[in-house]
Amino acid sequence: MKTFTTAAISAAFLASNVHAFPKMAMDALTEPLKAEAFNVKRTTEIHARQGAAPPQGAGALPLVPPPFDAKTQYVSNQGKYKFVPPGPGDARGECPGLNALANHNYLPHNGYATIQQFIDATEAGFGMAKDLGGFLGLYGALVDGNLLGWSINGGPHIGIGGSHNNYEADSSPLKSDLNQYGSNQKLIKDQFYSLYNRQPDAATANYNLEVLRDFRKERYYESIHKNPYYSYLPFTGIEVSQAAFTFIYRFMANKSDENPEGVLNKEVLKSFMAIYGDDEENLHWKRGHERFPDNFYKRNPTDEYSIPYFEADILYFAETVPEVLEIGCNHGSVNTFNTIDAATISNGAYTAEQAAQSPLCFASEFAKVEIPLITGLSNSALSPLFNTLNTLTGNMNCASIGSVNQSALTACPGFSFYGGPTGPVAKGAIQDPVLN
Ligand code: HEM
Ligand SMILES: *[C@@H]1O[C@H](CO)[C@@H](O)[C@H](O)[C@H]1NC(C)=O
Ligand SMILES: *[C@@H]1O[C@H](CO)[C@@H](O)[C@H](O)[C@H]1NC(C)=O
Repeated sequence: MKTFTTAAISAAFLASNVHAFPKMAMDALTEPLKAEAFNVKRTTEIHARQGAAPPQGAGALPLVPPPFDAKTQYVSNQGKYKFVPPGPGDARGECPGLNALANHNYLPHNGYATIQQFIDATEAGFGMAKDLGGFLGLYGALVDGNLLGWSINGGPHIGIGGSHNNYEADSSPLKSDLNQYGSNQKLIKDQFYSLYNRQPDAATANYNLEVLRDFRKERYYESIHKNPYYSYLPFTGIEVSQAAFTFIYRFMANKSDENPEGVLNKEVLKSFMAIYGDDEENLHWKRGHERFPDNFYKRNPTDEYSIPYFEADILYFAETVPEVLEIGCNHGSVNTFNTIDAATISNGAYTAEQAAQSPLCFASEFAKVEIPLITGLSNSALSPLFNTLNTLTGNMNCASIGSVNQSALTACPGFSFYGGPTGPVAKGAIQDPVLN
């Protein structure tokens, strides 16, 4: 599907279409992909999920509303689970879900936990299925930890705060792009209000998947326009950065008898995002103070958020934002975004169509090739962990990627700027006010 294969053609194209870019360029690039990705079977599956319309609208709802059981779904924020703000030695990072779990002692309060503790806590607090919790926890232990556990902040190779382009990525919902702001953890005022104001009426507000995919599109283009080092790569882009959006509704929404799929209103969003204050125009952010609200009900145990569920949500996003299935980067200045063909980066192992059909396969196979390079561990040392990854993705029969074409990545200056929680600000970065 690669329409513009060489940098020269793309540069010429950009030069003559400065004002039209990137909308026009992206349409041209993604149109063939879209046709392939949304074949009849896919579309039927996605629309089947959205069958039950009221009261949330076309927010990618399950075909049959999940059951609701107050007793098993209630998440206590009392007693041993009461909110305790982080102290000076406690790690709190870019993930509001993990911060909230640590603040309420579902995770160790210091923010360091084992793979099993991450699996147990994400299930107890939010109803994350064990396959997804296992995948995310294991990946953290491999790439950002000591193979057994990791920090929810930390620094390079010792926590998810220090894992730019390995785990943490650009174009997050509320948090800053590393080389746009010099930090991957500031909360940007315009980003917050852009999401917040999408549901103006507090009485009916629901930040569902439909709202979130529109917001996701805006954030994607905002990074192209403002972050010279914006990189959107197979694992951190297609997978992790989508999770940062879908998790907002899938996990933070409050479930009930009336709305078993969940409603995410303004108060609950603010509580989980550590936003405080009464003046709606001048809300404040208290770093690391994410809280479970009172009387919060998580997902039903029979309706946990699993890897296949998450993959379907990525495809739901891609219906209106097909850009999310393609990788690419800015080339050192804003508005220089070019896509990278999946076949080029995978040395022919995946065509763009195959990558779009199975984004998790493409992303996790890419990650498997990159992990030995990132961690310096040998393949034999990693094999027990790869076996676990294979078990998790096993029923998808993913085609393996023998080697990643590293020279295709050298076109992305942001890719080599590994780091976090802080890092250099790229020349030409455009910054907006932060929320304090
Ligand atoms: C072991 C499980 C988890 C891991 C390893 C993890 C890791 C991460 C990472 C690396 C990011 C940064 C992504 C980016 O750069 O865009 C992130 C962001 C985020 N995570 Fe988690 N997370 C986990 C569980 C959860 C849970 C249970 C929630 C529930 C609400 C959650 C909600 C979010 C949200 C909303 C963001 C985006 C924050 C923002 O930019 O506004 N995560 N997480
Ligand atoms: C969740 O919904 C139930 C039922 O409507 C309600 O009683 C409870 O207060 C809600 N919780 C939050 C955190 O909004
Ligand atoms: C690897 O990437 C470079 C730079 O984009 C490209 O010229 C080359 O053809 C790629 N190799 C393969 C096997 O696709």
